[in-house]
Amino acid sequence: MNTDEGRRGEAEAKIETLGGPITVEDFGGLVELLTACVEGGASIGFLAPLARADAETYWRKIAGDLPSGYRVLLVARDAAGLIVGSAQLALEARANGRHRAEVQKVMVRPAWRRRGIAARLMAEVERIARERGVRLLFLDTSDSHAGARELYEALQYVYVGGIPGYALDPRGRPEKNAIFYKTLAAGA
Ligand SMILES: CC(C)(COP(=O)(O)OP(=O)(O)OC[C@H]1O[C@@H](n2cnc3c(N)ncnc32)[C@H](O)[C@@H]1OP(=O)(O)O)[C@@H](O)C(=O)NCCC(=O)NCCS
Repeated sequence: MNTDEGRRGEAEAKIETLGGPITVEDFGGLVELLTACVEGGASIGFLAPLARADAETYWRKIAGDLPSGYRVLLVARDAAGLIVGSAQLALEARANGRHRAEVQKVMVRPAWRRRGIAARLMAEVERIARERGVRLLFLDTSDSHAGARELYEALQYVYVGGIPGYALDPRGRPEKNAIFYKTLAAGA
């Protein structure tokens, strides 16, 4: 039994914002989450196999962005505190775009999928976005990786279109992306 399978029956994951300095344990959890998703075929900016050093470099960069307040990192934890999912909100600093923000890197460990974790991460992303005065969310995802398009369609994001060959999937094959947006009603 792998580690994820062993945790399947435990209590519902908790969603929280990772604010201050990231602990060693959480940093390791984020590295494992990213690696598990890329190895599982998720098209989220990396090729497989993902070297640990590359995953660490990525999360170090994200951790470095957090103090600015223009990036929000949300995580989902299992009952033991292990990070099993995450999502990011990248806010716009320029004066003409402060009403919009980009949703990035929504990911859930393979054995924790189809339990509503991504939907709950996205609900929290939207709550924080509204709180910050954001009225327009946008994102781009894989057109073909199982669950990516379906998640945003299920959450009433509007599909704009896709660019053929936009990115390479983890195995290096060109694939189309899928661009979505959602308008957040004030006070909703
Ligand atoms: C996409 C992803 C984040 C979904 O996470 P998840 O926690 O399994 O999603 P949820 O359980 O919250 O699903 C919410 C809804 O999205 C849709 N959905 C999610 N995964 C789906 C799948 N594999 N097939 C069809 N519909 C899916 C369903 O409507 C689902 O509701 P339901 O389970 O009641 O039918 C997850 O598959 C993942 O991490 N994929 C790799 C990373 C990735 O591609 N991220 C996307 C954008 S950056």
